[in-house]
Amino acid sequence: MKKLVINGGKVLDGKIILQGSKNSALPILAATVAVSGISVIHNCPMLTDISAALKILEHTGCKIKREGHTVIVDSTSAYRCSIPEKMMREMRSSIIFLGALLARFGVAQVTPPGGCEIGLRPIDLHLSALRSMGVEISDCACVLACKAPQGIKGCHINLVFPSVGATENIMLASLSAHGETVISNAAREPEIKDLADFLNKCGAEIKGAGQSVIRIKGSAKLKGSEHTIIPDRIVASTYMACAACTGGKVAVSGVCKEHLLPAISAFETAGCNISFKNGELITKAPKRLSRIKSLRTMPYPGFPTDSQAIVMAMLATADGTSIITEKIFENRFRHVPELIKMGADIRIEDGCVAIVEGVRRLKGACVSASDLRGGSALAVAALGAEDETVIDNIYHIDRGCEALEQSLSQLGAEIKRV
Ligand code: EPZ
Repeated sequence: MKKLVINGGKVLDGKIILQGSKNSALPILAATVAVSGISVIHNCPMLTDISAALKILEHTGCKIKREGHTVIVDSTSAYRCSIPEKMMREMRSSIIFLGALLARFGVAQVTPPGGCEIGLRPIDLHLSALRSMGVEISDCACVLACKAPQGIKGCHINLVFPSVGATENIMLASLSAHGETVISNAAREPEIKDLADFLNKCGAEIKGAGQSVIRIKGSAKLKGSEHTIIPDRIVASTYMACAACTGGKVAVSGVCKEHLLPAISAFETAGCNISFKNGELITKAPKRLSRIKSLRTMPYPGFPTDSQAIVMAMLATADGTSIITEKIFENRFRHVPELIKMGADIRIEDGCVAIVEGVRRLKGACVSASDLRGGSALAVAALGAEDETVIDNIYHIDRGCEALEQSLSQLGAEIKRV
């Protein structure tokens, strides 16, 4: 089992180039099987989740070529519309193949997806939306057999919660629908707009992505196309936190400022100086971070749940008491006991409120990553801590952060993978 060993207390200083967004690349890769022909996707991060998506595409009959951060998918001869349980369990995003396969073949067979254990993560919103589009779904022994005998039909879907995955699945399934599909209370995350931008280049007619109401005209002829994945706003916030925790100064190049605004305001409240110069976002830490009185995770454009653990790690040594409320997932504080092992003073109330009493310094410890962002948070905490921290279960981190230790070493961190 691989571990990260971090000797904390080094002030980080320097520049890193930001990777492409995992949460954009995954649905866009799924979308390549919904359209026929060759798609060239640039800026795909090198991550285990991306490899898992490529395996699924290959299984459906797509031909894949990977050239560094560019992935070429030829879906011309895709023929298989079922995905085995083992592949579905690899990650949460496998469920997005359901909408893509329905759009391409009108039938699909999948099992419930895997992914980080950060809550119940049901797929009821995905399934009820597909049912209202005329998809018949039978659920027998955990196999979801889906077909649309009368064809997929466009309709009005009002999501009770702006689920990212459900919005993506509906967008994909509606590509082959008869008539128009309207999604209201759609997720507004930048990754949704990126998916729509790719699909529109393929010939789709999607309007309103990035806003609450998305309209998709179905039945357009779709052909593969070329697209560059947006930068990863969550990984950007991870490097910002690394600077903040170590009293350093880190420039992240290749960011999209607009996508980062919700996170930036949290870093500024904590006393960081944030500036933009020549396409770089520069985070300069204060002598000591200030507390954030109240921080709540919300759907975009609110503060992202994916940055919650990372910012909590940073606030563990801030001056004063910070209160963080997790509003998206029920079980997204699994990093807290690990931070406590490092000397953090955090208590959880009502399951979703973390009260973080800032301590002067964290101390190195042996800790374990329980999920992707929780694992990154431990690395952030370790960089600012005294002595050595050993993080195990780092395969979680590898699912979302490309070459974390190389980037951090480049910034002056003492970190190695053993
Ligand atoms: C996406 O997950 C991201 N994953 C998550 O990133 C991210 O945390 C999340 O959106 C919120 O921004 C990918 O893009 C691959 P949701 P998703 O559907 O689509 C409930 C990371 O670390 N819900 O918006 O699964 C659900 O249980 C990951 O990169 C239902 O109740 O998120 C949750 O409480 C982790 N029924 C809330 O909605 C449903 O049918 C938000 O989930 C669907 C969701």
